[in-house]
Amino acid sequence: MSAAPDTTGLTFRQDYFADRTAWRALVSLLHDTFGIDIGPLMELGGPDPSSMPFGWFAEDGTLAANLSAFAMPIVVNGRRISAAALQSGAVRPPWRGRGLYRDVTNKALDWCSYQGFEAIVLYTDKPALYEPYGFRTLPMHSFEGDAPKPDGAPDARTLDPRVAADLALLQDLLARREAVSDTLAVTGSPAMFLINTQLDPNVQLTFIEKLDAVIAWKLDGERFILLDVLAPSIPSLAAILGGLGIKPSRAEILFNPEKLGWNGAPLPSSLHGTHFMIRGLDGPELQAPAMLSPMADF
Ligand SMILES: CC(C)(COP(=O)(O)OP(=O)(O)OC[C@H]1O[C@@H](n2cnc3c(N)ncnc32)[C@H](O)[C@@H]1OP(=O)(O)O)[C@@H](O)C(=O)NCCC(=O)NCCS
Repeated sequence: MSAAPDTTGLTFRQDYFADRTAWRALVSLLHDTFGIDIGPLMELGGPDPSSMPFGWFAEDGTLAANLSAFAMPIVVNGRRISAAALQSGAVRPPWRGRGLYRDVTNKALDWCSYQGFEAIVLYTDKPALYEPYGFRTLPMHSFEGDAPKPDGAPDARTLDPRVAADLALLQDLLARREAVSDTLAVTGSPAMFLINTQLDPNVQLTFIEKLDAVIAWKLDGERFILLDVLAPSIPSLAAILGGLGIKPSRAEILFNPEKLGWNGAPLPSSLHGTHFMIRGLDGPELQAPAMLSPMADF
């Protein structure tokens, strides 16, 4: 794992997000590699301010290889952890197999350890890529069961993060939110929530004023799917359904529902076939089945 990378014709840069041309090169790399468009992030408050990208650029400005780190505070088993997350890991096909990914991985891990993060997390469909660095997979579970009877009158307003007033409301609640679960949840990372609102067009964002809550949800026939709740005090599932004015027969919660006044059966989840991996956290596995909300997916 220590062979020097072949960096012929390439220039290394880190912390390059302020350079719009370099940022566009990353947008292009991620579009070409994963088919996702993170361009809209710039209209939603920009990348997480803690972001530290590590990239090798070709002479024409093409980003050949990249891996980014950013601070992603989480709560695990009731303990707040200052964690970093790795994301946007990709090497363009002509530059693969030269050790460039190993190089940016080592640089990102060195940066994380210099910054003093307690743990590092990532999502990947290639766990073997990260196991040599001490990452291990944490199994994820969603929760399913009969939906509770809705409680309270409808009070729902759909939000559009591209509308300035709605974005401000979201940012305010993102800053004041309580962790949706104490077993596993993010306690920060507003930029990830905002970009994820743009990546899945089926996710609805609804503000329920009387609950001081924004609900990220979907409906699949009779099944209500709850992705995330932004609120200083997490309301019950019954109050959420009442506020939304819907009466589904089934509910699926994409995080541990311990604060929702409702319980469901845990089901192994392989969100997009990806593994959630963690490095550096000592001690036991998750004390209960859990899942990191897809709105924190990075
Ligand atoms: C996976 C990817 C980043 C590898 O890039 P690369 O520059 O060819 O990788 P490197 O040459 O630096 O190889 C790094 C190490 O990863 C290993 N590796 C490469 N591709 C791998 C894969 N698909 N699965 C497991 N290990 C892999 C290499 O054998 C090498 O191991 P070593 O350090 O023991 O020698 C690149 O193929 C890619 O961008 N794929 C599409 C996007 C993707 O999968 N991103 C990462 C997942 S989050």
